[in-house]
Amino acid sequence: MFTIIICRDYEEVSNKAFALFRDQMKKKPNSVLGLATGSSPLGTYQRLIEDHRLNGTSYRDVVTFNLDEYIGLPEDHPQSYHMFMENNLFSKIDIRKENTHIPSSIGDAEENCKAYEKLLEPYDIDIQLLGIGSDGHIGFNEPGTPFDALTHIQVLDSRTVRDNARFFDNDVNKVPKSAITMGSGTIMNKAKKIVLIATGANKADAIWGMVKGDRDINCPASVLQGHPDVVAIIDRAAAGRL
Ligand code: F6R
Repeated sequence: MFTIIICRDYEEVSNKAFALFRDQMKKKPNSVLGLATGSSPLGTYQRLIEDHRLNGTSYRDVVTFNLDEYIGLPEDHPQSYHMFMENNLFSKIDIRKENTHIPSSIGDAEENCKAYEKLLEPYDIDIQLLGIGSDGHIGFNEPGTPFDALTHIQVLDSRTVRDNARFFDNDVNKVPKSAITMGSGTIMNKAKKIVLIATGANKADAIWGMVKGDRDINCPASVLQGHPDVVAIIDRAAAGRL
């Protein structure tokens, strides 16, 4: 079930997403948080950091699971999702490194997928932050991925590669062509609450597909139509087709 909140702009989207995470932290200081990377969550993370600094919200007892990681980038590559999380959140709050989990792209990728599912096994994710790709992907579950997929190796759609070239000197050749991602099935089974954020007109088709389209693997985010608690926080441009 979707609750849709339409906001003026990215700032308002970030404020509202932050408020849901802050409330969750207040309610349960040892929450399990599901985290995403990319442009969408940056404002939310900035607000969490600010709240930690100003109000002392502590992450000592928090456990996190990230959605995905590129295959083929060393973990210390500036565009790896390990580095993204370190630079944009983890190094700026008091979270314990051993409580943070990101799929590993080092070594045997198939084994790493199984290992990530195993790591997740004892947990439920109290609140899961999601962005959405312009092709409707969540995590890196690209169109055509079965809704019950678990953590798996995903070849990235050419559209995703194009979209993400902005992080790689606008050069599609530098963008990794595959990733390890939590599956749609993993997200659906593990997340008790989902907060999906999206801004910009390039997300309008994906948001329409997620909310109004058929529940169909061609729009991976439409799997969320079957989830009991999804809050979609989007700006007017992303809501343009609703
Ligand atoms: C990132 C992720 C992706 C992004 C999506 C949108 O961990 O799983 O699904 O959320 O590609 O990216 P941005 O926010 O950069 O538009």
